[in-house]
Amino acid sequence: MTNAIVAEGLVKRYGSTVALDGVDLAVRTGSVLGVLGPNGAGKTTAVRILATLLRPDAGRATVHGLDVVKDAHRVRSLVGLTGQYASVDETLTGTENLLMIGRLIGMSRKDARARAARLLADFSLSDAAERAAKTYSGGMRRRLDLAASLVGRPRLLYLDEPTTGLDPRARIEMWEIVRTLVADGVTVLLTTQYLDEADQLADEIVVIDHGKVIAGGTPAELKSRTGAQTLAVRPVDPRDLPIVLSVVGEVTRSTPEVDDNVVIAQVTEAAALPAVVRRLDDAEVEVAELTLRTSTMDEVFLSLTGHRAELTPEVAAP
Ligand SMILES: Nc1ncnc2c1ncn2[C@@H]1O[C@H](COP(=O)(O)OP(=O)(O)OP(=O)(O)O)[C@@H](O)[C@H]1O
Ligand SMILES: [Mg+2]
Repeated sequence: MTNAIVAEGLVKRYGSTVALDGVDLAVRTGSVLGVLGPNGAGKTTAVRILATLLRPDAGRATVHGLDVVKDAHRVRSLVGLTGQYASVDETLTGTENLLMIGRLIGMSRKDARARAARLLADFSLSDAAERAAKTYSGGMRRRLDLAASLVGRPRLLYLDEPTTGLDPRARIEMWEIVRTLVADGVTVLLTTQYLDEADQLADEIVVIDHGKVIAGGTPAELKSRTGAQTLAVRPVDPRDLPIVLSVVGEVTRSTPEVDDNVVIAQVTEAAALPAVVRRLDDAEVEVAELTLRTSTMDEVFLSLTGHRAELTPEVAAP
C-alpha cells in the first residue's frame, strides 16, 4: 500500500502560539484518515499546509510524492479542499458556482455545464440549482461546498469539519456522500471534533491536541484504548446506588462516577451492557435508565490525556 500523503514533523507558529508542534501523519492511497481534535488543536492549520495554502515553519509533507512547498502548484492540481468556512459565492446560484469553478480550472463551457449538472444531481441539489446559494439551508450549503471541491475530479479530498453545525439528518447525508466518494477510490483526509464521525468514516484516526499527535490507530484500536462508549445506569431507588456502582465497576473494570443518581462509566466492550443488565437483574435492582452512548470528545480526551479538552476561543474566519 502506498501513501497518498506523508507529513513529517510539521511545525507552524503564529507569534507565540504553536499551532502545530511536530505533527507526523500518513494517509494510505484510497483510505480515509480522520484527524480528531478539539477547537484550536491545529486541524485546519494542518489541512491548509497539506493543501499548499500555508507554509510550514519546519518539517515536510508530500502529496503523491510531491512536496507541498516546492511542488505546490502540482499538488494543488491533485487535491480538492472543502474548508471549514463556506467558500461558495452566496449571490450566485448552485449552477453558477460550479460553472465558474469549472471554467476557472480550464473546462470548456459544455463540459463545465455537464459536470455542474451531474454534481448537483448527485448531491440532491438539482431542484435548488437555479437559486442563489444564500437561500440554501446549512446542509445544502455544505453539499454545494463539497460539490465545488469535486468539479476537477480530485483523487484526494480534504474535508475540514464537514458536518460541524449540521443537524443529524444532514450529517448522515454528508457521511453517505463521503462513502460514495471513497468507494470511487478517492483518498480522504477529514478533520472532525466528533468521535462518532471519525468512527463512521475513517480507516485510521489520529488524535491531535495542542498541535501534537497524542494517539493514533484504527477506530477499533482507539476505542478499545479509550472507552469510546459511555454507560449510564440510574436505579429506581437511590438506595441501590452502591450496588449499581460495584456492578458497573466490576464489569467495566473501571471506577465509575456518580452524577445525580446516575452511575457513569467508560466502556470498551459491547458485551458490558448485557453483563450489567444480567448482574443487576440477579441482584433484583430495578433500573429507571440504562443507556450506552458514544463517548463525547471530552470523555475521550480525558481518558487519553488525563485532562479535559480545553476550550479555546474560535479563530475568526480569515
Ligand atoms: N492566522 C492565525 N493567526 C494567529 N493564530 C492562529 C491563526 N490560525 C490559527 N491560529 C491558532 O493556531 C491554533 C490552531 O488553530 P487551528 O485553526 O488549526 O485549530 P483547529 O483544530 O482547526 O480548531 P477548530 O476546531 O476551532 O477549527 C489555535 O490556537 C489558533 O488560535
Ligand atoms: Mg479548524
